[in-house]
Amino acid sequence: MKVLVIGGTRFVGLRIVRVLAEQGHNITLLNRGKTKADLPSGVKRLTVDRRNPDEVGQVLESQDFEVVYDITGYQIKNLEPLVAALCGRINHYIFQSTCAVYAPSELLPIRENFPTVTEVTAPAGEETYALEKLQCEQFLLRMFEEKGFPVTIFRSPVVYGPENWMDEREGSYFVRLLQGRRILVPGNGATVLHFVHADDVARAYLVASGQKRALGKIFNIASDEAITIDGYIDTISETMNVKVSKVYVEPQVVCNLKRPIFFFPWERSSFYDISRARDDIGYRPLFNMEEGMRHTYEWWLRSRGVHGTRFIPGKMGYDVDLAYEDDVLARYG
Ligand SMILES: NC(=O)c1ccc[n+]([C@@H]2O[C@H](COP(=O)([O-])OP(=O)(O)OC[C@H]3O[C@@H](n4cnc5c(N)ncnc54)[C@H](OP(=O)(O)O)[C@@H]3O)[C@@H](O)[C@H]2O)c1
Repeated sequence: MKVLVIGGTRFVGLRIVRVLAEQGHNITLLNRGKTKADLPSGVKRLTVDRRNPDEVGQVLESQDFEVVYDITGYQIKNLEPLVAALCGRINHYIFQSTCAVYAPSELLPIRENFPTVTEVTAPAGEETYALEKLQCEQFLLRMFEEKGFPVTIFRSPVVYGPENWMDEREGSYFVRLLQGRRILVPGNGATVLHFVHADDVARAYLVASGQKRALGKIFNIASDEAITIDGYIDTISETMNVKVSKVYVEPQVVCNLKRPIFFFPWERSSFYDISRARDDIGYRPLFNMEEGMRHTYEWWLRSRGVHGTRFIPGKMGYDVDLAYEDDVLARYG
């Protein structure tokens, strides 16, 4: 298969490139060439800023692809140049979206036809991200209806796995536990979180590619099981073979803290139904949290470790601040 990956040098996109390469596909990446990555041999590169319509048009004019994976689209203006350049010339365009587009739901699991966010209900701290991703989806589905642009949309919950550049996620728990820190848990630890391993997302791209029944549709691409906050922390500590001591903090207290102490959506449980992806495209996630975390920790020990982990202030709007956590532990622990 001749595949163009938009992005492809970081985490989700990079894992997709690795899975494509293992299976011998013909891979080209389109990005600005700023993010450094150790790519499989044979991967071709197009150095373009996707926001520049002239550049995108010129570079893609002389190229032919069967399938395009758009891993790094966040605004309609980043999509328009690609749609203009590729419309009528490809079989399939798969767009990476997010489960953050769903409105808070009292009914679980959340299916693809459930209500989406509005300016009022968008998740705090992720408002712009969720609303703009939703606008991207709507734009692409309109292009499908009006021009036959062959799009499929994947919505994923929190992604974890090897090569995660967001050290604030699982990497921060590896650091806390190796340093013998107590772990702050919001509420009673029973809130349900839903994740997906990056390599399961990668396999979903491959399995969906070229399937006509996937066109014009949205699919939840998640793990087939969810886990409580307690379960998440316990699985990590068991994977590391390190004892964990948890400190539960009342929800009201957590909400009134100056800084966040937990970086996944903890105020309400989330669980996304993947039966449409199973039935329509044959998606089968391989990783449960135990196996996925073992796989991730092995990579982390080899490639990051405590000294290679960086909590960069302001990077994601939810900084890990271990000194602040110590202060909270002293007050509430
Ligand atoms: N991580 C999660 O928990 C999660 C959950 C749900 C959905 N998602 C979605 O998953 C996707 C993947 O995120 P990610 O963290 O793996 O990667 P990302 O940060 O979205 O993308 C990075 C890639 O995009 C390229 N890039 C950035 N700006 C560009 C531009 N203007 N023109 C061309 N290329 C550009 C980068 O290379 P250069 O810097 O060299 O250009 C790099 O290859 C996103 O769409 C995100 O919304 C993630």
